[in-house]
Amino acid sequence: MAESTTEPVRPAGRIVLGVSGGIAAYKAAELLRRLTEAGHDVTVVPTESALRFVGEPTWAALSHNPVAADVWTGAEQVPHVRLGRHADLVVVAPATADLMAKAAHGMADDLLTNTLLTARCPVLFAPAMHTEMWLHPATVANVATLRSRGATVLEPAYGRLTGTDTGQGRLPEPAEIARLAELLLRRPDALPPDLAGRRVLITAGGTREALDPVRFLGNRSSGRQGFDLATVAAARGAQVSLVAANVELPSPAGSEVIRVGSAEELRAATHAAAKDADVVVMAAAVADFRPASPAETKIKRTDAAPAPVELISNPDILAELVQARAAGRLSAPVIVGFAAETGDQHADVLTHGRAKLARKGCDLLVVNAVSDGRAFGQPDNAAVILAATGGEVDIPLGPKTVLSAALCDAIAALLPE
Ligand code: CTP
Repeated sequence: MAESTTEPVRPAGRIVLGVSGGIAAYKAAELLRRLTEAGHDVTVVPTESALRFVGEPTWAALSHNPVAADVWTGAEQVPHVRLGRHADLVVVAPATADLMAKAAHGMADDLLTNTLLTARCPVLFAPAMHTEMWLHPATVANVATLRSRGATVLEPAYGRLTGTDTGQGRLPEPAEIARLAELLLRRPDALPPDLAGRRVLITAGGTREALDPVRFLGNRSSGRQGFDLATVAAARGAQVSLVAANVELPSPAGSEVIRVGSAEELRAATHAAAKDADVVVMAAAVADFRPASPAETKIKRTDAAPAPVELISNPDILAELVQARAAGRLSAPVIVGFAAETGDQHADVLTHGRAKLARKGCDLLVVNAVSDGRAFGQPDNAAVILAATGGEVDIPLGPKTVLSAALCDAIAALLPE
C-alpha cells in the first residue's frame, strides 16, 4: 500500500555555483551533488584556477549542464548576462581571497566575476583559505564591502588546513552550505546581517545522567535544531557560542563549540558563557532528573531483583538564567526557551506552551509537537514561536533552517539598538 507522505514539496531553483581556485574545490563537488539531488538546476562556473584542482568533466557530469569558465564559450548566448539574470541564487564555494577581492572591486575578467556583477539574486560566499589570508586587512575589508552590499559571507570553519597547520580557514561543511542555499531559495531575505556584533549563546543536544561508568539516562535530542540555529545566527553576523551536549554533528562554521555531557556540566558551561551574551537560547533537552548516587563501578547483573534507581531533580537552567537577569547578574536582553510538547487529557500542545512560557519567564518560547518522534533527529521541523509580549508565529513543517531564520527574526526584533 502506498504510504502518504508529509514531506513538503521543495521548490526547485536555478543556482549558479561559482568555484574559485582553492584546494577545497573538491568539496564543492559534494555541495553540487547535494544541490542537484534536491532538484535544483545548477550551472557550475569555475575559475581557470579552480579547473586546475577539479576538471570540467566532473562539474559537467555532476550538474548535467555545460560548464564554461570564460565569457567566450557560447558567446552568442551572452552567458555572463544570461546566467546572472536568470539565477535565483549564486553560491561561491570555495570563495578564495582573490575571488572576493575581485568581487568587492567589481572586476570582471572571467565568467564568474561577470556573473557576480549581473546577478540580482542573493549571493552566498563560502570562503576557504589559510588563516593569515582570512585575517589580512585586505581580505577583512573586502569581506566587509561584500557584506555591506547585501551578500552573505560565511565565516570559514576552524580545523586542519591544507598543510600540517590548523586554524580558521576551512570551507564550511558542504551540508551546511547546502542548507543555507536551500534557505535562501525559500526565503531570499533570510540572512540579513542584523545579528552582527551580537553574542549569541545556544545550548543544543541532550544531556546524559550517569547511572554508572558505562550507562546513562538520556533522551532522543540530536542537537540538529540548535546546531542549525547556530549556522543561521552566524550567517546573520552573530558571534556564536554553542554548548553541545552529546551531539554527533560537525561544529558549525563560525561557532565556538563547548562539548559537555551531563546537565551539571551544561549548567556550568552555560552560566559561564551567558555572562557576556546578548542572547541565550536553551535549545538543549536537559534531563529533569538524575540518579541520586551513580555507581562508581559498573553495576553487575545479579539474580536478585535490580535495585530501584533513586532520582533527584536537576536545576532548571532556563529559570536560573531568567532569575539571574532579574537579579542584575546577567544582562542578556533576550532569553529563549524550547518546549517539546505532546498534548494530553488536560490541554493541547499550545496551551501547555503558553503556560510554560509564563512559568519560565523567558522572552520567547519555541513550541514543537513531538508525538510520533517528530522533531527528533529529523531535518524538518514545525513549531510555534510564542512571545512573552503575546505575539505568536506559526512555522509550518519545513527545513529546520526556516524555523531558525524565523527565530532569528524574532530575536533581532527584541534586541535593543
Ligand atoms: N530546561 C532547563 N533546565 C532543565 C530542564 C529544561 O534549562 N532542567 C529548559 C530547556 O532547555 C528548554 C525549556 O527549559 O528550553 C523547557 O524544557 P522542558 O523540558 O519542556 O521544560 P520542563 O520545565 O522540564 O517541563 P516539563 O514538565 O514539560 O518537562
